[in-house]
Amino acid sequence: MRRPVGEITRGTTGHNRLRRSDRWLAAVHAPLLRSAPGAPLVADLGYGASHVTTLELFVRLRAVCPRVEVVGVEIDPARVAAALPYEREGLTFVRGGFELPVPRRPLVVRAFNVLRQYAEADAWAYWDLLRSRIAPGGLIVEGTCSEVGHRAVWAALGAEGPRTLTFAARFGGFDRPSDLAERLPKTLIHRNVPGEPVHEFLRQWDRAWATCAPFAAYGARQRWIRTAELLARDWPVAVAPPLGGPSRWRLGELTIPWSAVA
Ligand SMILES: C[S@@+](CC[C@H](N)C(=O)[O-])C[C@H]1O[C@@H](n2cnc3c(N)ncnc32)[C@H](O)[C@@H]1O
Repeated sequence: MRRPVGEITRGTTGHNRLRRSDRWLAAVHAPLLRSAPGAPLVADLGYGASHVTTLELFVRLRAVCPRVEVVGVEIDPARVAAALPYEREGLTFVRGGFELPVPRRPLVVRAFNVLRQYAEADAWAYWDLLRSRIAPGGLIVEGTCSEVGHRAVWAALGAEGPRTLTFAARFGGFDRPSDLAERLPKTLIHRNVPGEPVHEFLRQWDRAWATCAPFAAYGARQRWIRTAELLARDWPVAVAPPLGGPSRWRLGELTIPWSAVA
């Protein structure tokens, strides 16, 4: 067997940690999954010391697409052995790395809290490798979140390259939007310095948040929604479903095209 591509890294994970991105994937991309002929395959790359987030992804995606199959891919053989007893119809676990040793091209690849442990240049190279492995029309969701998932940021990529960047936060779990910067993907985190678009975006988001402080009287959710509306005057924030607008903002989400912050 050829050596899997990548390195074993810390296996930290936890129940419900990835619920924000699961919810986004299930809501925004259910049509993609349902449009696939046969059983769409979703690969959860680097699931960590426990199978739990892969199982949660499986259950949440099955609710919107009963034909979906999920395969957890992990480079650490001990973590694969620990997950195997939890296999069931439609949910499997295999040892592997960025080469994705799965039975057919996955329609969706989810990789959370994996690339942050690599160097920036490697993160870009592994994005390219993953992009070459997905099914036509497929999607990669690559992100990072806090220990319990209250703050999360993820990029969505197609075969052609990165498409969007989504921020998601628990109301009350931050002081200002730029607190989410610590969760930027590896390909952006070192760019959060003056003069770079992502830095300017976060600065203006904070400013809009401050301007909308009076709406806090109606709750942080209202303040977030009003802030998104204000920010959208100057930035190409997604303002309409499925990616944007009040139905997503009320969940503490905000999505912007990658090109705006690249
Ligand atoms: C911090 S855990 C993340 C667990 C889970 N995805 C989460 O967010 O809670 C990162 C896991 O990715 C695995 N990993 C790192 N590089 C990998 C690769 N190239 N292929 C597969 N797994 C990898 C590590 O062994 C580790 O178990």
